[in-house]
Amino acid sequence: MREPELIHSLQGINSSEVSVEGPVQAVELEKMHLNQGLTSFRPPDRQLEALIKISNLPEGMIYAARNGQEIIGYLTFHYPSKYSRWSNHPRVLELGGIEVSPEWRRKGVGTTLLKEAFANPVVENYIVVAIEFCWHWDLKRTKLGLLGYRSMMINIFNKVGLKKRATDDPDITEEPANVFAVRIGKNVGQKDISLFESMLFMH
Ligand SMILES: CC(C)(COP(=O)(O)OP(=O)(O)OC[C@H]1O[C@@H](n2cnc3c(N)ncnc32)[C@H](O)[C@@H]1OP(=O)(O)O)[C@@H](O)C(=O)NCCC(=O)NCCS
Repeated sequence: MREPELIHSLQGINSSEVSVEGPVQAVELEKMHLNQGLTSFRPPDRQLEALIKISNLPEGMIYAARNGQEIIGYLTFHYPSKYSRWSNHPRVLELGGIEVSPEWRRKGVGTTLLKEAFANPVVENYIVVAIEFCWHWDLKRTKLGLLGYRSMMINIFNKVGLKKRATDDPDITEEPANVFAVRIGKNVGQKDISLFESMLFMH
């Protein structure tokens, strides 16, 4: 694990309070616990198990924002599921999920997680895709509304070069608010880029 990067620029957070680091190894995650507010995907205990599982995958990477041994936000990378169209591409890596506990939101933690993760040179070898299913969004608490939340996600992703792309992937089109965002790493070859472009619209 790299030395934790202290957050200096976050609004209202003391820089000694929260650190953002990754990829965090399973052995480190096992010593931590998830903040009880991290429930967007599944209950915190089960989500920690899921994070440990991802960190054990050969390509899996977990980035964590933590306050002591408590994870208050995280971001995951893994290969697309075998049921996904993108699993047929050899250089696609999926940004699986990003979540920050409600009590720590709007302080720059989500942005810092993304910036730290995309500073890893490994991502330059991949086409990173983010498949944003709107049913994971916290519409109730943010009161942003579907379109407002969608714009917020597009804005956050833009900060690290993940750009919204059109596709006829049924996982995306089944709900018009879903977002598909893509970042092509600078070491990805033209053949892989062309293959990816040809996969955007397949029907
Ligand atoms: C999406 C999420 C990770 C953002 O985390 P965060 O730590 O609050 O993000 P930041 O503080 O870095 O804010 C990033 C930008 O979004 C804006 N933003 C965040 N929450 C907002 C809200 N409720 N209303 C308006 N804008 C908001 C911030 O103002 C900031 O914009 P700016 O950089 O232009 O000023 C967090 O809201 C979350 O965990 N949501 C639930 C899970 C989820 O929806 N995950 C995404 C799907 S996988």
